[in-house]
Amino acid sequence: MLRRGWTWLQNKITTKARNFVLKVLAAGPIPRHVGFVMDGNRRYARVHHKAVWQGHSDGFVALRRILEVCLRLDVKCVSAFAFSIENFKRSEDEVNALMKIAEEKLIELSSHGDLLEEYGVRLNIVGRKELLPEAVQKAVAKAEEMTRHNDRAILNLCMPYTSRDEIVTAVESCVRNAEDMPDEIRISEDDIDAQLMTTLGGSPPLDVLVRTSGVKRLSDFLLWQGCENTQLQFSDSYWPDFGLLDFIPIILDYQRKVWTRTIS
Ligand code: FPP
Ligand code: MG
Repeated sequence: MLRRGWTWLQNKITTKARNFVLKVLAAGPIPRHVGFVMDGNRRYARVHHKAVWQGHSDGFVALRRILEVCLRLDVKCVSAFAFSIENFKRSEDEVNALMKIAEEKLIELSSHGDLLEEYGVRLNIVGRKELLPEAVQKAVAKAEEMTRHNDRAILNLCMPYTSRDEIVTAVESCVRNAEDMPDEIRISEDDIDAQLMTTLGGSPPLDVLVRTSGVKRLSDFLLWQGCENTQLQFSDSYWPDFGLLDFIPIILDYQRKVWTRTIS
């Protein structure tokens, strides 16, 4: 009984401290758009003696956790790299496990009373949806439809996605549009920007790009979007371990840079 009361008190204090930290952070400048390369699921699984699918499943829990932190800070758009086109080369078991997570969890996340509804988040699946198994295509279409009217924030779940594929698709659209004016085909940076899958979904400019697991690579994620003023942040935590404590220094660094830019 005493033990239960102690745990209750500890949880209460943790929640209060968390709310306080979020309120303090939210008083400063907040990035409009944060991208996450969610890396390190398999190394996390190995270290914790878990199966690979469990590493990815815990990775989904981490996505949900950090998404809520971002939404409470009033980040308007979160883009998460959930599955690269290259990931189809992984073992059948691993690909199937990731597809199962997408099929089951995205509808859950979009359902009545769950996170996306609570914070008014529109879900966009960004990438080559036609490469997904039929059952997953149906599930993601349903999840997107369930959140279609939400307009307070955006979650871009990139799967199956690579940035170069997105850029090629955007250029193809520009060429198709320009064919209506055959005299002179001119394609500007703005034209390509307007055709990117993220822009079509209404995403603001990418302010911060985070990669976990101590690896410093971009891995073909949001390359065009990351060209201008994006701050790159690398965290040593494996993705399933990533949480508020890892995110606080990232937001503080963003705020410091915005303030010094404003002052100088
Ligand atoms: C990279 O870690 C992670 C992935 C390839 C998958 C990311 C997916 C999730 C976090 C689950 C959420 C998403 C879905 C499908 C909706 P890794 O496998 O490269 O691990 P390693 O770097 O340790 O080898
Ligand atoms: Mg990896």
